[in-house]
Amino acid sequence: MTSEKALTGSMRDFRVMEDTNLLDRCERFFDWQDERRRHGVWPFSRATETGPASTCGVRDDSGVLMEGVNFASQDYLGLCAHPAVRASAHAAIDEIGVHSAGSPALVGNTASSLVLERALADFLRMDEVVLYPTGWAAGFGVIKGLVRSHDYIVMDALAHACLQTGAQAATRNVVLFRHLDNEHCRERLRTIRARDPKAGIMIVTESLFSMDSDTPDIAGLQALANEFGATLMVDVAHDLGCLGADGTGHIGLQGMLGKVDLVMGSFSKTFASNGGFVASRKRAVKEYLRFYSPSCTFSNALSPVQVAIIGQALSIVRSAQGAALRDRLMDNVLSLRRQIEERGMGVYGDPSAIVSVKTGDEKLARLTAKILPTLGLVSNLVEFPAVGKGLARFRLQVMATHSAAEVALAAQHMETGMQAARATLARGEGPRFAIAS
Ligand SMILES: Cc1ncc(COP(=O)(O)O)c(C=O)c1O
Repeated sequence: MTSEKALTGSMRDFRVMEDTNLLDRCERFFDWQDERRRHGVWPFSRATETGPASTCGVRDDSGVLMEGVNFASQDYLGLCAHPAVRASAHAAIDEIGVHSAGSPALVGNTASSLVLERALADFLRMDEVVLYPTGWAAGFGVIKGLVRSHDYIVMDALAHACLQTGAQAATRNVVLFRHLDNEHCRERLRTIRARDPKAGIMIVTESLFSMDSDTPDIAGLQALANEFGATLMVDVAHDLGCLGADGTGHIGLQGMLGKVDLVMGSFSKTFASNGGFVASRKRAVKEYLRFYSPSCTFSNALSPVQVAIIGQALSIVRSAQGAALRDRLMDNVLSLRRQIEERGMGVYGDPSAIVSVKTGDEKLARLTAKILPTLGLVSNLVEFPAVGKGLARFRLQVMATHSAAEVALAAQHMETGMQAARATLARGEGPRFAIAS
């Protein structure tokens, strides 16, 4: 029987605690986490045995191994295993070495990172690109680098943690607008401008939201930025490279290539490596970020190996092969969404590599998460506070390299798992499934 404690509560409960000793506070979180772990409902911090393949072995953080179809990795075009990408990493080690050994503000760039900056700027039809060690560093850094304490940030309420954290670090003047609601954004801007005609304002959003797979009217937001003398910043982590005929994602699909003030992204979803970037239309912005964006200025540059991988991935993204991979990815996405719906389950948002399956109730979600590994499905449970209370979901991340059979198994296991969890809850018992080791 799964304990009530393991099925209730959330990480939010342990964010602010009063104990004087900072380390003692961790014990209270660990106690709750371990209760969930003991009852098999802690599906986080797992490790693939041999990398993120479409079917692979995954070990949970108690050491239990399962084998199954993998819909929990971010490798949308499957480029992690692409022979040319792997070969580029080997060649970079042989030709340049393994480490950048410096910040981009000092001598951390390499000839190859300068080539990558140009190639990416060209792809985005922007003038300049600054590379960052991770996407998180780029999201945090572009905000903290440009926004000062007397300025304002007007941000979509569901913006990613790196953007929220960057905003909190930059100014106390952070206002959220309702998700995707440009009219609400306009109201926020109007209020700020009535009070403060001179302050800088950054509008922050994403081109594809990673929990809901939905997209703002980017052209509308840029028009608002122009009208109110604000700057628009769009995070393209989840659609750049993998969505749209040419891979330029929703910015391209909305005819906004080269027209958004600032574009920030991550290489970790489609470009087979850690790393991030900020693209701008002015050399002055690039130079300012390099010296005032702390996660760029005071952090070592991408390694030559990462640069080579990203550069090779970008070449593939821009090639006919990239277009074919995007077609395969979209075929898989549409097929998975259809099969999930045919089996009576709901999915969020619009077709993208993220297929979020609705569960709702956290207890149901946690019990389903306990069962899925026994069936052979690796998927990510998302629950409060990453999404609202009662809006738990399984975020299935699709790859171009998933086979039709793997897609079918994912839909089938999702249904079986959720039905079994529902039956368990109805009986008022803990799940009877044993995890195969
Ligand atoms: C929207 C968004 N922005 C930024 C990031 C951070 O990227 P990275 O994982 O490369 O640090 C992520 C990844 O989790 C993301 O989903």
